[in-house]
Amino acid sequence: MLELVVNGGRYEVEAPIGQTLAETLRGPLGLTGTKIACGEGHCGACTVQLDGVPVLSCITLVHTVGEREVTTIEGLRDHPLVDAFVRADALQCGFCTPGQIVSAAALVEADPEPTPERIRHAMAGNLCRCGTYPRIEEALLTWRD
Ligand code: FES
Ligand code: FES
Repeated sequence: MLELVVNGGRYEVEAPIGQTLAETLRGPLGLTGTKIACGEGHCGACTVQLDGVPVLSCITLVHTVGEREVTTIEGLRDHPLVDAFVRADALQCGFCTPGQIVSAAALVEADPEPTPERIRHAMAGNLCRCGTYPRIEEALLTWRD
């Protein structure tokens, strides 16, 4: 049995050795907001925060998480960035959006007024096949409006 701290709660889960954090979140914990797309660490769809730092949960083994706090998109449901993404129409299919918002939340926590250059750098690991990058940038430039 493994203990995980997720979105402010403490949970016990059964997890075989080799299971990823993404599989654990989506399976036993039922937190399906975290998406798995490439499953190989290339696209950012599975991004969650560990102690505020964005990580790729599809290549993070759950037994390496330890006491670090996991924050998923469900833990950010009241973050102003969610409204900002809606206002800026910063999604099409929406599959990449949870990971985008998790990365964006870490960025604005560190830098509440990021420049376009900083946004592009911080968000470079989150791919969007629908190509909503200009609107994601707009959401990040206007998230406190
Ligand atoms: S699903 Fe994890 S990086 Fe693509
Ligand atoms: S909105 Fe479709 S992949 Fe980003």
